[in-house]
Amino acid sequence: MGKDVIVACDFNTAEETLRFLDNFTEEKPYVKIGMELFYAEGPEIVREIKRRGHKIFLDLKLHDIPNTVKKAMAVLSRLDVDMCNLHAAGTVAMMEAAIEGLTRPDGTRPLLIAVTQLTSTDQERMERDLLINEPLEKVVMHYASNAKAAGLDGVVCSPLESPPVHETCGGQFLTVTPGVRFADGDKGDQVRVTTPEKAKELGSDYIVVGRPITQAQDPVAAYRRCVREFVG
Ligand code: C5P
Repeated sequence: MGKDVIVACDFNTAEETLRFLDNFTEEKPYVKIGMELFYAEGPEIVREIKRRGHKIFLDLKLHDIPNTVKKAMAVLSRLDVDMCNLHAAGTVAMMEAAIEGLTRPDGTRPLLIAVTQLTSTDQERMERDLLINEPLEKVVMHYASNAKAAGLDGVVCSPLESPPVHETCGGQFLTVTPGVRFADGDKGDQVRVTTPEKAKELGSDYIVVGRPITQAQDPVAAYRRCVREFVG
């Protein structure tokens, strides 16, 4: 599986998103579409970005009963996205149903990645709000193992968690990692950040980069710098 930089297109209109993508005349970055853009513009924005030749990670983080997730995943699969995701907290049965729904009649399917614990959840919140009293890292690794057992392709995690995830689930199990900043860049609201180079060293398979590229003076140069540092 090739390493790649995924650009988080956190815009809320198609117009702004497409104007941003117009900057890229030579390369076709892998694009992440999140809830904000998808809820604003619907499936048509996915089709338009696909038509322009980009790969798409559709970050909608599904979590519902197995039958509902299976049917929703079948719709996303027909949209021809390349990667999508769900919450591992929905259980192994839900993840298995998701794989079933995603798989096309010819046996192909988009990559399916699990969110373990959101990076906005810390030990205190997990204990207080979710009544989970195990150490956070143990919970993350348990959810990653469940995702692997259900046949998923990987997890979204911090680059710092890539080594233990690969140790627990094997080197082929993908780690898709946000929280990436240039050494000389602004952190924004991200706390545990690593550089693209460090993410490479830690074995991340994909880095998800938003503001360091979307808000850069020269987004193409920032994207190229990420690729140079992460892919080499
Ligand atoms: O702008 P920035 O590089 O911080 O964007 C990171 C992207 O990755 C955002 O779209 C954010 O929602 C997403 N993300 C994250 N942390 C997670 C999961 C997703 O930052 N744990």
